Amino acid sequence: MARLIDSGPGCPTPTPLRGPNAAEARGLVYDDAVRAETDHLYPLVQDFVTPMEWPAIAPLVAAINRLKAEKNAVILAHNYMTPDIFRLVGDFRGDSLQLAREAAAVDADIIVQAGVHFMAETSKILAPQKTVLIPDMRAGCSLADSITAADVRLIKQKFPDYPIVTYVNTSADVKAECHITCTSSNAAQVVEAIAKEWNSDTVILVPDQYLAKNVAAQTKIRVMTWPGSCEVHEMFTADDVEALREAHPGVVILAHPECPPDVLEAADFAGSTSALANYVAEKHPHKVVLLTECSMSDNVAAENPGTNFIRPCNLCPHMKRITLENIYDCLVKGEYEVTIPEDVRVRAKKAIDAMLALPRMEKPLAFETGLKPLELEMVV
Ligand code: 13P
Ligand code: SF4
Repeated sequence: MARLIDSGPGCPTPTPLRGPNAAEARGLVYDDAVRAETDHLYPLVQDFVTPMEWPAIAPLVAAINRLKAEKNAVILAHNYMTPDIFRLVGDFRGDSLQLAREAAAVDADIIVQAGVHFMAETSKILAPQKTVLIPDMRAGCSLADSITAADVRLIKQKFPDYPIVTYVNTSADVKAECHITCTSSNAAQVVEAIAKEWNSDTVILVPDQYLAKNVAAQTKIRVMTWPGSCEVHEMFTADDVEALREAHPGVVILAHPECPPDVLEAADFAGSTSALANYVAEKHPHKVVLLTECSMSDNVAAENPGTNFIRPCNLCPHMKRITLENIYDCLVKGEYEVTIPEDVRVRAKKAIDAMLALPRMEKPLAFETGLKPLELEMVV
């Protein structure tokens, strides 16, 4: 049963409800100085922000960009951020792996994570000397919430001979118990590398059962998994793909690998959020659907005016907790700081470093589509 909201080609995700005085309430006004600083930015978001809305947004954008310079802060913006954040204040944009690499490399005193909590923790793990802030502590993730460090300790007791790979969408506590992390852009590479290192024919990949099934279909390694799932991607079905093809002949369907395996079987291409963006930029499809979080289509559409985006999508309620307003508040107040006990951080870093030490790929690995879905053994 399709649960997609097909808002049709050309209809962007609504930006968060923003009172007309979002800026004024913070003592920020739309004056000549703000106009001079921001007029050139409006064209970047004109498809998403109405001219009436702009005076409420421009003072926040100008203030955020000034605060970043004053405080030597950078904003790491995930591909699921709304275009006002992604295009106007984000300093580095990308998928989980790209943002993690940036966090480790960037020269800044403060990192503001425009993303969810596990991403901010990853930044802190890799850049402990930097202050890492997240604008809303409630920006979580259903995958990260599905498994605890105690769960992983039990898995290790039960299967001491198998390496445990954790998807990066987990807490620092969970990473600290695992042997290596992976992201959607390198999962098959990580599974094969750790199997070789351990001389094992079996690898445990937690907590996303769908990512694990999709990875297992790409490799000869036996994969066991955990019953976690992404509340956003698990909503897409193979019937949705069929319905989209019927309704929009010739459409190219791209899916994130957190979608169930029968969705990848039916899709034309699959990969991390950046892999999906790269596909559109390189192949210039005439008509495309991105089966992933809603803001992806907005951000990719803004860069690819020649492509027509059909926009069925599901919102991530956690990603959508991050707004321009709370990014501004976060920079002004220095809230909310993400901290990790040092012993946990050091152990979690080992798992991330093991991933980062693998040969760097030129671009995110694509998942082969059209493969028969596999059932995997659960570790519980
Ligand atoms: P990416 O690493 O592909 O950006 O995915 C992160 C995520 O949370 C997808 O739901
Ligand atoms: Fe987590 Fe899914 Fe949201 Fe990504 S889209 S942050 S996996 S709940």
